[in-house]
Amino acid sequence: MTDRRIVLIIGGGIAAYKCLDLIRRLKERGIGVRVVLTRAAEQFVTPLSVGALSNEPVFTNLFDLNAEREIGHIRLSREAELIVVAPATADLLAKMAGGHADDLASTVLMATDKPVLVAPAMNPRMWMHPATQRNVAQLRADGITVIEPAVGEMAERGEAGPGRLPEVPELLAAILAALDRSKARAIPLTASKTGRASGLPAQLLAGRHVLVTSGPTHEPIDPVRYIANRSSGKQGHAIAAAAAAAGARVTLISGPVSLPDPAGVDVVHVETAAQMLEAAQSALPADAGIFTAAVADWRVATPGTQKIKKSVGAKAPKLSLTENPDILKTIAASGPSRPQLIVGFAAETNDVAEYAAGKLKSKNADWIVANDVSPETGIMGGDHNLVHLVTVNGVETWPEMSKSAVAEQLIARIAAHFASRKDAAE
Ligand code: CTP
Repeated sequence: MTDRRIVLIIGGGIAAYKCLDLIRRLKERGIGVRVVLTRAAEQFVTPLSVGALSNEPVFTNLFDLNAEREIGHIRLSREAELIVVAPATADLLAKMAGGHADDLASTVLMATDKPVLVAPAMNPRMWMHPATQRNVAQLRADGITVIEPAVGEMAERGEAGPGRLPEVPELLAAILAALDRSKARAIPLTASKTGRASGLPAQLLAGRHVLVTSGPTHEPIDPVRYIANRSSGKQGHAIAAAAAAAGARVTLISGPVSLPDPAGVDVVHVETAAQMLEAAQSALPADAGIFTAAVADWRVATPGTQKIKKSVGAKAPKLSLTENPDILKTIAASGPSRPQLIVGFAAETNDVAEYAAGKLKSKNADWIVANDVSPETGIMGGDHNLVHLVTVNGVETWPEMSKSAVAEQLIARIAAHFASRKDAAE
């Protein structure tokens, strides 16, 4: 049983069928969905199918005394973090703008003090009608988030223009962003254990520049020897690939790894921490910086310029180490060129969440993705990851999933974060 919940009000439009998939996607992410169907919506989807998918009672009529007794419209709203209206018909928008409360959907909307997200869908001429545009302007002025309908062919033959309900991934991203914005708590995203996520919408990060560091660094001892660590670069490379799939311009600064360069990504190959820092600084400005590299904390102060030879009876050479620059911390302190979102990774072997919370502060990161890299977890070098997302809002533990699923979830989260900031700025 989840404690995160939205109320989804489904209006009477042909696009109502998309809400069935939307309910599934929300449930996959651990978000409970209570559905209110308008009378017209019942012509397009049945309470039975909605109830089977949401695994909750479906609410259809204000005067359903049983439901009123068990859970009234006030409680419906009180127990939700967000009210979503999709598809919102011209009639529903008009009712909302006019403050009507003559059925369950409009009564919930009038009685709620929760954020409301509206996804209109209708014939393009109805959408462009001055009355609808007036109503939408009124709803926005009332603090309601209205998603622009998509442009395209309508169900009616020969009709095209703005009015389509956005596709499920876009609806999902808007809902996650609205939940993020509500800041009540951080959002627990989930994915199947083996799961490659279903793929990110190609435009999710369009126009954004994402900087990713990945892999280990090699710190020379002499021309043939170096200090290294066991990082494979799999998680960082997967994140770069997911960001590119979501339409971002991606600069991946990679230490020495045996992975191919991800498609569609600008890759800068480096060896040492100093080179990684220089490459990261030259890649700025960026909208997001994701620092997954396992940067060596120390380097040999004066590496040999020639191979250090061993001779019989001589003592082993002493290596004098000096601290490497902290790339994340330096970029996070780079003033106006600081990316607006800085995500660090924390590789720990014990007290994972506590150390990660410390790094969030000490490095001035916005989020830290923490993972337990004790040898028994098989995470370092493996294909799966079990991470905790640490933000100022608290710690979320994601289920164990593949590194590519972690990458996609993280990118979806970042897109939702940007979407919520954009909305807030408008
Ligand atoms: N990091 C970095 N530059 C460094 C060290 C770390 O950019 N010189 C970044 C990593 O990419 C990661 C985060 O800082 O995003 C935390 O790395 P981690 O190795 O867990 O932490 P350290 O700061 O090295 O602390 P410690 O090794 O003591 O746990």
